[in-house]
Amino acid sequence: MAKMWAGRTAGDTSKIADEFNSSIGFDSRMYKEDITGSIAHAKMLAKQGIIAQSEAETLCDALAGILDDIASGKLLIDKNAEDIHMFVEEVLTARVGDVGKKLHTARSRNDQVALDLRVYLMNRVDELSERVYSLIAALTDQAEQHKTVIMPGYTHLQRAQPIMFGHHLMAYAMMLLRDADRMADCKRRMNVSPIGCCALAGTTYDTDRYFEAEQLGFDEIAMNSLDGVSDRDFVVELLSVISILMMHLSRLSEEIILWSSWEFGFVELSDAYTTGSSIMPQKKNSDMAELVRGKTGRVYGDLMAALTMLKGLPLAYNKDMQEDKEGVFDAVDTAKMSLEVFIGMISTMKVKADNMKKAAQRGFINATDLADYLTKKGMPFRSAYKISGSIVAYCIENGQVLETLPLETYKEFSDIFEEDLYEDIDLDTCVNKRNSVGGTSVQSIESQINYVRRKCNG
Ligand code: ARG
Repeated sequence: MAKMWAGRTAGDTSKIADEFNSSIGFDSRMYKEDITGSIAHAKMLAKQGIIAQSEAETLCDALAGILDDIASGKLLIDKNAEDIHMFVEEVLTARVGDVGKKLHTARSRNDQVALDLRVYLMNRVDELSERVYSLIAALTDQAEQHKTVIMPGYTHLQRAQPIMFGHHLMAYAMMLLRDADRMADCKRRMNVSPIGCCALAGTTYDTDRYFEAEQLGFDEIAMNSLDGVSDRDFVVELLSVISILMMHLSRLSEEIILWSSWEFGFVELSDAYTTGSSIMPQKKNSDMAELVRGKTGRVYGDLMAALTMLKGLPLAYNKDMQEDKEGVFDAVDTAKMSLEVFIGMISTMKVKADNMKKAAQRGFINATDLADYLTKKGMPFRSAYKISGSIVAYCIENGQVLETLPLETYKEFSDIFEEDLYEDIDLDTCVNKRNSVGGTSVQSIESQINYVRRKCNG
């Protein structure tokens, strides 16, 4: 088929080259953004007297018709077209004749594709943020319900100090709050219109880039035409933001997988978010969490591919840049689905409070509090730490636990110990006395919940 750009070249491209060159298979998802951009462009051309008002009206009506027809399925996207930009222009010219050929005045596919991708991704960022906020809400609601559930807190995956389950969940709410913030920040830099940069050097036509940008809802325009068409920072940035988000989801996935295991038994996922085994009847697998953990690697790959694709490119547009789309689309789709799965999975997750508490009761998780007890009675912390360590060693050797070790035995280690030590090493005391700002006490969790909810609504 004759190419729109045929002119310089006389011979046809080979079939394999056409196939290799075509991006319609993945960029057709930007049809709406492409058409909306073209409508704004036609209006700008008319306003500036570059085309007649009546011509712009013909173009805009036809473009709106194409948009409706694609959306309704009446017009099928031709998989043999070179890309979505060419496809829309070809259909337009077929529908309105020669006036269709005027649309591409003072524009290049280089600024067009940069525009389409920015607008498309800004819309996707909105969808992602909305889901991040829903997940924050699901975590916060669970945290509120389980703000008094004691569990072991871990470092090195060894029982460290008792914490509330609500506190653990709120840690993830904080991470996701940063993800939402990063998305907003990334969108702010995406919100710069490249249209009007043309091929690379700007144009001799008297265009109005501000007018065109404003119609498309942009806050700013790219101030250097070479940069406008070559900049894909926004792709890399969004991929980084999504990678960090996925890393957070993956860490939570790992914990959920552990917590759902027979060995931990801290939570039970709803049947709606687990699968069985084809051979082992007892199995209930946390496949959704495992998939999110697995897909995180894929998203990192998308980020690496984008960074690597761009690193050696001279200004301005190079066809390598067509490779910017599939990875970022994949990352956006993956993150969107992962968030949706997580929202449902977290809000239906059952918490096995008794098992969590039981796990916290073993492992000398209150040894720090024992040391703190001595310190509060005047002993330097390092000495108190040593004594508590010896008591733990004694207990392990003699099959005892701190809660029931007799006072006389304690006194053999230090005569500072009195009856009130038992109160201080009680798990409820341990958690609720950690009332420092950001600590694990119920009061602190409540203020964390308020903080997060305020941020979400503000
Ligand atoms: N399909 C191309 C892309 O996605 C559109 C830009 C083509 N521009 C060009 N000069 N070949 O990057």
